[in-house]
Amino acid sequence: MTTYEKAYEKLKTYGQLHVLQYYEELSGEQKEALLAQIMATDFSVLTSRDKEEKKQPGRGQIAPLAAMELEESGARKEEFERLGLEAIRAGKVGAVLLAGGMGTRLGSEDPKGMYDIGLTRPVYIFERIIRNALDVVEQSGAWIPFFVMTSDKNHEATVQFFRDHACFGYREEYVFFFRQEMAPASDYDGRVYMEEKGKISTSPNGNGGWFVSMERSGVGEKMRTLGVEWLNVFAVDNVLQRIADPCFVGAVIAENKASGSKVVRKAAPDEKVGVMCLEDGRPSIVEYYELTRGMMEAKDEKGEPAYNFGAILNYLFRVRDLEAIMNNHLPLHVVEKKIPHLDEKGNLIRPEEPNGYKYEQLVLDMVHELDSCLPYEVVREKEFAPIKNKTGVDSVESARALLAKNGIEL
Ligand code: UTP
Repeated sequence: MTTYEKAYEKLKTYGQLHVLQYYEELSGEQKEALLAQIMATDFSVLTSRDKEEKKQPGRGQIAPLAAMELEESGARKEEFERLGLEAIRAGKVGAVLLAGGMGTRLGSEDPKGMYDIGLTRPVYIFERIIRNALDVVEQSGAWIPFFVMTSDKNHEATVQFFRDHACFGYREEYVFFFRQEMAPASDYDGRVYMEEKGKISTSPNGNGGWFVSMERSGVGEKMRTLGVEWLNVFAVDNVLQRIADPCFVGAVIAENKASGSKVVRKAAPDEKVGVMCLEDGRPSIVEYYELTRGMMEAKDEKGEPAYNFGAILNYLFRVRDLEAIMNNHLPLHVVEKKIPHLDEKGNLIRPEEPNGYKYEQLVLDMVHELDSCLPYEVVREKEFAPIKNKTGVDSVESARALLAKNGIEL
C-alpha cells in the first residue's frame, strides 16, 4: 500500500475523508507533509467523546483527604528541609515546567512565558520562574535538572527566547526542552477542522501527557541517567511558586507518598479551584464545577470544611510510580474553543464564538492513578499568583500586586 492509500484508509475508518479535499491542489512537499500528519494523528480522540461521556456518568465515592497543614509543616520544618535538601544535592529532584499551553486568555501570540510583566524594566514570566528555581539552587548548592515542555506551536520561540537570555542565569546544560503531542481539533460533530489546505487543525493535547511526551522525546532517558527520582511539575503562569521546594520534597519523602500536591486553603466554599479528596479510596481532584452543595457544606472532625484545600498545579511525583502508570488511560476532557479553520470554499475563518472542541488530558488526573498523594498546604499570598488574564481575577494586575506584597520589584 502506498502512503496515500494508508492515509486514505485511516481517514475512512474515522469518517474524516474531507481532510483530503484539497489534496490535488497541493505541491509535492505539502502532499507529503499532510500524509505524514494524517499518519501521526490520533483520530480516536474524536470518536471517544461520546464514549467518555457515557463511561463517566459521574464521580466515584468521594471522601475527604486530610492535608498537611501549615502548623504541622512548620513544626517539622527542619526535618523536611534536611530531607529535601539531601535529595536535591544527590541529584534526585528534577523540575518540569509545563509551557505547552496556548495561553489564549492572556491574548498574546507569543508563548505565555515570554510575557513581560515588568513595570520599570522588562521582567518576563519565564525569568520569574527561573529566578524562583535559582533560589533553591543557591540554597542547596546543586543544579536541579530543569525540563521545559513546549508544543509544536511554541517550541522554536521558547527555545530561542531562553537562548537569547542565556537561560536567565540557569546553567544551560541543566535545561532540557521537549515537545508535547498535539491533538486534532474538530467541529461539534467530531469532524476535524483544516487549518490550511494541507494541514489538519491541531492544538496541544493538554498538560496530562507530559510524562509520556518526556519519555517519547528521549528526555526521559536523560532524566534517568542524571539519577532523578522525583519530578516537581508546575504551570508556567504562577509567578510566585516555589520550585523544588525542599520542605515540600522532604515532607512527601518523610510521609512516603507517591506524590504530593501543593494546596491552598480555599477563600470561599464555592471558589473556582479543584479540591483534593479521596475518590474510591484513591487521591483525586474534583473540579469546582463538580462540587456538590453537600461537599461544600461538609465538616471534618475539627469543625472545619472537609473539602477545604485547592490544588495550585504544583505537584511532586515519584518517577518509579509514574513509570508504573504511564500506559494508563487518562480521561479525555472535551473543551469548547474558538478554532480557526478553512470554510467550505477554502477561506480561513477566525471565529468570534466557540465553534468546536479541543481534546485534552490533564495532569490533575494523574494524581488519581497513583496510590497516594500528600496535599501540602502553602500560604496563598506567598506562593500563588497565577496569570491567566490581562486584568481582573488571576491576571497580570493581580500577580503584580502579589509580587509587590512579597517585596519583589518589577
Ligand atoms: P491552562 O489550563 O491555563 O491553559 O494551562 P493555557 O493554554 O496556558 O491557557 P488558556 O486556557 O489558553 O488561556 C495550565 C498550565 O498547563 C500548561 C500551560 O502552559 C500552563 O502552564 N499546558 C496546558 C501545557 O503545557 N500543555 C497544554 O496542552 C495545556
